[in-house]
Amino acid sequence: MSRKSPLITVMAAAADKAARSLLRDFNEVENLQVSRKGTNDFVTAADLRAEQVLKDELSRARPGFGFLTEESKPVPAKDGQNRWIIDPLDGTLNFIHSVPQFCISIGVETDGELTAGIVFDPLRDELFWAERGEGAWVNQRRLRCSKRERLADCLIAHGRARSEEPGDQERLLAQMGYVMRHTRDLRRMGSAALDLCYVGAGRYDGFWEEGLKPWDIAAGIIIAQEAGVYITDTSGGPVSVKTGSVLAGNPNIHSQLHKALAGR
Ligand code: IPD
Ligand code: CA
Ligand code: CA
Repeated sequence: MSRKSPLITVMAAAADKAARSLLRDFNEVENLQVSRKGTNDFVTAADLRAEQVLKDELSRARPGFGFLTEESKPVPAKDGQNRWIIDPLDGTLNFIHSVPQFCISIGVETDGELTAGIVFDPLRDELFWAERGEGAWVNQRRLRCSKRERLADCLIAHGRARSEEPGDQERLLAQMGYVMRHTRDLRRMGSAALDLCYVGAGRYDGFWEEGLKPWDIAAGIIIAQEAGVYITDTSGGPVSVKTGSVLAGNPNIHSQLHKALAGR
């Protein structure tokens, strides 16, 4: 059933309000684009504004929940149980450059386990949402991951831009090169939260990235899992928002992708 629970309804309403603020600012960025001064400071302010809207709305609706957000200090849960994990703007670099691919991401952790998440793409008006055991949805449509079986038929996403660790950059380039040669193609769209939702929607067949933060992936992980996606960390161990390492794939190709990447 695609009926949203009270919790998801609260999250969707908060995201909707924050999105209005982001969209106003995005229009402004498009105007600023041609200026010499650039848009970084302006976008930082847009990020903070959206986060404040989310915090105000969510703390009014669930006063006991704590917060782990990208832009401010963590707030412990008064109820000792629940916390929001929030990225008010995932896809900042796209936003800065007026590229229309970004979202708001809100996850819920209960006793340390991911229990619900929403990812809202305001430009496409796509709300991805899921609760543990209840399936995943985009707007009113059930999400299901793809069933492709051969890596050669798959579209695979990846996000990490740069690494300062010695040898790491070469390994990343080798991994990307392998994927480009042995799959249908590689995508790097710049929002890890949307990348995970797109694997859930069967648009991508897999996604991998390391060095992510909890707010990049908390909501996307539960949405993708509830859509049938198999997710581990990049070494094949259990996924956790703490390690920031994600390897997601439809259950038919996950191990093929793991093997391919681990060998580089
Ligand atoms: C980033 C995006 C990007 C990923 C980066 C993240 P931000 O988040 O999710 O896709 O490759 O690792 O930091 O900075 O746009 O919120
Ligand atoms: Ca992010
Ligand atoms: Ca962000």
